[in-house]
Amino acid sequence: MTRRAIVGRGRLLTMAGARTGATEAIDGPWVLVLEGERIVEVRAGALATGDPEVVEDVGTALVTPGLVDSHTHLIYAGDRSDEVAARTRGARYTGGGILRTVAATVDAGDDELARETRLRLLAAHARGTSTIEVKSGYGLSGTEEQRLLRCIADAAEGLPMHVRRTYLGAHAVPQRSTPAQQAEAVMQALPDVAKLADHVDVFCEPGLFDLELTRDIAVSAAAHGLSLKLHADQLERSGAALLGAELGALSVDHLEQIDSTDVVALAASETVATILPGPALMLRAGLPPVRALLDAGATVAIASDANAGTFGEPSMPLAIGLAVALGFTIDEAMWAATAGGAGALGLDGKVGRLLPGASADVVAWDAEHEGAFAHRLGGVRPLWTWFEGESDD
Ligand code: NIG
Ligand code: FE
Repeated sequence: MTRRAIVGRGRLLTMAGARTGATEAIDGPWVLVLEGERIVEVRAGALATGDPEVVEDVGTALVTPGLVDSHTHLIYAGDRSDEVAARTRGARYTGGGILRTVAATVDAGDDELARETRLRLLAAHARGTSTIEVKSGYGLSGTEEQRLLRCIADAAEGLPMHVRRTYLGAHAVPQRSTPAQQAEAVMQALPDVAKLADHVDVFCEPGLFDLELTRDIAVSAAAHGLSLKLHADQLERSGAALLGAELGALSVDHLEQIDSTDVVALAASETVATILPGPALMLRAGLPPVRALLDAGATVAIASDANAGTFGEPSMPLAIGLAVALGFTIDEAMWAATAGGAGALGLDGKVGRLLPGASADVVAWDAEHEGAFAHRLGGVRPLWTWFEGESDD
C-alpha cells in the first residue's frame, strides 16, 4: 500500500492523552503519514529523506481528528418547532411530543425518510463530523424500528462517514400501552433488531422506563450482542447514570439532574459521561454539573443530540462552542468531541485520535487555533477533510 503524507506548519491536535482535555498539541511544522485507511505516523518536524509523497500542504490551518457525534436522532419526519416556541414562553419539556414525531415518521415512506436523513448526515459532515451515531426511536413498534434502522443504512450509503446505529425502541410509550408493555415489545423485537444495530438505548425516566424496566432491556440486549447507552437523569434524578455505570454502559447521556454521588460513581467507572450542550441549554430545566464531572476526572464526551423535538442542529462545532458556554475549557471540549465521543461508541483508538493505527479521518479547519471554536460559536468550517485516508474533495 502506498504511503502519503499531509504536512502543515500550524497546530495539530492529536488527542493522544487519556484524560479528558489532553489534546496533546503539536505546533508545526508537522508530518502526518497515511497508509491505506490508517494513520501510520504523526510527528513534529519537517519532511525528511524517505518520507512519502506529500498529497496536501495545509499551511497554517488547525488540524484535528474528524469530529465524533456520539448521540443523534437524525431519522424522523414532521415538524415540532411550535413546541420549541412554547418552551421559550415557559412550557416544560416532558417528552410527550415524541409521539407526534412517531405519527409523522410512521406515515413517511422509506425514500422520504432516507432522503431527509441523508441531508442531515451531509450537514453534519459539512461541519467536520466523520463518525456519527444515529438512533431509531420514532417508530416504537418492532417492524417500524427495523424499518428506521434499515433506512439509516440506506441514508448513509456511500457517505464518507462511519455511521453507528442504536436501537431506541424504549423512547416513548405508545397510546393505549404501558411502559411495561412497551419494554416487553422492545425485548421481543431484539432478535431481529440486533442484526441491524450496534447499541441499545433507553429513555430512562420515572413515568417512562424506570430503573427496573431499563435493567431488563439492557440485560436482554446484551444477550443479543448490543452494548448499552442510556438517556439518563435528564428530567429527574432517578439513578439512571448509576445504573449505567453498574451495567458497564458505554455512555450515560444528558445528566442534567445528577448529583455529587453520581459524579463520583461516574468518575470511578469506565462509562463515558456524555453532555449534550444544545438541549441542556435550550430546555431551561437544569444544567449538567460539567465542572464537577471534569474536575473529578470523569471521561466526558459531547454530542449534538440533533433530534425532532428539543434541538435540531447536527453541528459539532456548535456543540463545542456551547460546551464552553457551559464551563468546559476549550481543550476539554475538543477532546470530548473527538476521543471522548469515540469512547462513547466503543471505538476508542479506532477513531477520534490522530495516532498510528487509527482511521485516517482528518480535518483541516478555516482557523489557526482551537480557540476559534469558542470565538466563532458554530461558525468554524472544514477546509480539507480526509475519510479513511481519502480526500473528500
Ligand atoms: O435526547 N430525551 C429524549 N429524547 C430526545 C428528544 C426527543 C424528542 O423530543 O423528539 C433527546 O433529547
Ligand atoms: Fe437523545
